[in-house]
Amino acid sequence: MRDKLEIIRADADAALGRASSVEELEAQRVRFLGKKGELKALLQSLGSLPPAERPAVGQLANEIRAFIEKAAREGALRLGRVAQDARLRAEALDVTLPGRRVSLGHKHPMTQVLDEVTDIFTSMGFTVAEGPEVETTWFCFDALNTDENHPARDRQDTFYIDENTILRTQTSSVQIRYMQEHKPPIRIISPGRVFRKDEIDATHSPMFHQIEGLVVGRGVTMGHLKNTLETLMQAIYGPDTRTRFRPHHFPYTEPSAEVDIQCYVCGGEGCRVCKGEGWIELLGCGMVHPKVLSVCGIDPEEFSGFAFGIGLERITMGRFAIDDMRLLFENDVRFLTQFA
Ligand code: DAH
Repeated sequence: MRDKLEIIRADADAALGRASSVEELEAQRVRFLGKKGELKALLQSLGSLPPAERPAVGQLANEIRAFIEKAAREGALRLGRVAQDARLRAEALDVTLPGRRVSLGHKHPMTQVLDEVTDIFTSMGFTVAEGPEVETTWFCFDALNTDENHPARDRQDTFYIDENTILRTQTSSVQIRYMQEHKPPIRIISPGRVFRKDEIDATHSPMFHQIEGLVVGRGVTMGHLKNTLETLMQAIYGPDTRTRFRPHHFPYTEPSAEVDIQCYVCGGEGCRVCKGEGWIELLGCGMVHPKVLSVCGIDPEEFSGFAFGIGLERITMGRFAIDDMRLLFENDVRFLTQFA
């Protein structure tokens, strides 16, 4: 009987030590200590022992019950520790690993060029002024010495909202608004959207952007105009950029000129981009017409000024060698990410 009890102790010790789950551990405990367990079964034959031996065997049986219960408790603790170790390993966080990169957007190429142009002008003492996109014909045309019959006012070319209200066709209207509010010295640029009834193609869009410039003061000359624009071109296109001033006509400047830069693709030889000319037209400019100053209450005998209007799409395309304006508006990320 004692031997059999010792065998149960050894069996239980091994089985509980091997258990790899809480369920298995409990099943083994029941196997030895349960109502139908091995210990109970063995003790049923306790009565067949001589009475003198019974207390000692009974005590051994109690010892073994306590031993098995202790082994079960220790087994439960061991399994708990194993489970916790596994969980900690699974949750381990290596704080030395490099982080995942968050992909950030970037400025649109036109915004980049506008920022650059704005920097160049503010460094020369200009401030930035704004005007409305829905404008009256007076600010956009009449005040700019552009009379009733001028072709620029044609309903074919301009979006009319009513008889006297349009989507501005040029940022030049901001010149008038600014000069009505401010007296010389004046030094502003005014970037913004303008609208014309143009079909969309590689070089036209019904909505595009201009940067207007206006300087008014005492003794402002065409020399100041040339130097200002040459400074701009060299800052944007590089110090070797050559510019050319070509006579032109605008109703609100006298004299007027268009400014070309030597082709940035062929360097003046003549190619597809400059259409064989060697030069690319970039902007219009001139000395503010005396009538325009007068309309704004500025005495043209005392003050003079220059003005210019730059196409933002055009300088952006030149700056990045983009050959189709539509790319700037389609916002295809495969295109835009090239300018990150
Ligand atoms: N407004 C002209 C255009 O849309 C550009 C321009 C030319 C602006 C001469 C000016 C200027 O301020 O003096 O084509």
